[in-house]
Amino acid sequence: MPDLTADLAGIRSPNPFWLASGPPTNSEYQIARAFDAGWGGAVWKTVGEPIVNVSSRYSSLDIGTRRMMGFNNIELITDRTVEDNLREVASIKRRYPDHAVIVSLMVEPKRETWHEFVKMSEDTGADGLELNFGCPHGMSERGMGSSVGQVPEYTKMITSWVKEVARTPVIVKLTPNITDITFAARAAYEGGADAVSLINTINSITGIDLDTFVPRPAVAGKSSHGGYCGPAVKPIALHMVSAIAADEGAPIPISGIGGIERWDDAAEFILLGASNVQVCTAAMHYGFRIVEELRSGLSTWMEEKGFETLDDFRGRSVNAVTDWGNLDLSYKIVASIDWKKCINCKLCYIACEDGAHQSIELVRRRGEMIPSIKQDDCVGCNLCSLVCPVDDCIHMVERDPGRGDTWKSRVSAGKA
Ligand SMILES: Cc1cc2nc3c(=O)[nH]c(=O)nc-3n(C[C@H](O)[C@H](O)[C@H](O)COP(=O)(O)O)c2cc1C
Repeated sequence: MPDLTADLAGIRSPNPFWLASGPPTNSEYQIARAFDAGWGGAVWKTVGEPIVNVSSRYSSLDIGTRRMMGFNNIELITDRTVEDNLREVASIKRRYPDHAVIVSLMVEPKRETWHEFVKMSEDTGADGLELNFGCPHGMSERGMGSSVGQVPEYTKMITSWVKEVARTPVIVKLTPNITDITFAARAAYEGGADAVSLINTINSITGIDLDTFVPRPAVAGKSSHGGYCGPAVKPIALHMVSAIAADEGAPIPISGIGGIERWDDAAEFILLGASNVQVCTAAMHYGFRIVEELRSGLSTWMEEKGFETLDDFRGRSVNAVTDWGNLDLSYKIVASIDWKKCINCKLCYIACEDGAHQSIELVRRRGEMIPSIKQDDCVGCNLCSLVCPVDDCIHMVERDPGRGDTWKSRVSAGKA
């Protein structure tokens, strides 16, 4: 059996699956249930001066029959007292000494207040701290959350205040509501952070009620922009994780977050450099039991690939992401339709005709007009294979393996 033990900046956990800070990590009761179900760690729902939440708080983007493809919330940090939270953190850590228990913190931007909260949090015996510089609503208006994460100078300054007193590893949680995530990661690194975690939620409005004209979630006839997460945000999170993993200016361990609900999502984050992963929306949607599939799926895949530990494949895909200018212009693929599988819906034909390169024609075969690829015209864009509703019906076939003819090489040869 592969070893799933994970290590993020010295914080060890029996597996790489942590619950992200949020509603599933709001109490000892929940985290005990999660650890019993098999989660390797948990980041406590962000602790700070207690706030008052609104009702309602959540909305979602549903696509077809798929519920909560994207999830949006206007919830703030914990509404429980600091004392209640930290007493329960200490109790959980005593009950589950081998699991990772992290205290997430968000407090006013004052050095003494940060020092006080860091000390109180570490007195619980927690394994580390996560600084929430990411939440995009409610707290940002008060000079906290993403209003810190969006300004590299503040990120660096508050991280360094925390590092003045912290004895446990400090993880800085980054906001994706920023143009280039590497600036934020560098600021955290320069402030002394031991790791970064990303992504927190993305500014969003998920939709409007067309009878009341009020966006969801509605609070007494008004709404507010919220934080977007769930499966829809995974591609954005993967890109940001890969950008940091490839950045020599911030060589720092990464905890990957954003849209993870299956084992293969987690494998992708680790391939792009994450040391572990965190999950929020999927646990809210399906419950703690999903960790069984996360663990067994990852383990089976690692066994198939011959990987014994997470380090055997961590970061393997980082170098496969490059600038567009390094891509081979002479590499060529074309589409090929398996007529035995084709149900003749003609979606590929209409997509190529109206939306791409007019490289599919309709030809008569056994009395029917069916789609056929014009191979000399096909540019290999993938669109037909993406719209085809039948698995493995349209394949992309290699025609030219490429000769290293990139845009950058053309520029340096004066041929661009
Ligand atoms: C309802 C809700 C509340 C959240 N509260 C917090 C929080 O208190 N602190 C924090 O750092 N992140 C919070 N998050 C963000 C998550 O930890 C996570 O970064 C984000 O949801 C992306 O992961 P996911 O796609 O798995 O949900 C919250 C997310 C949701 C959905």
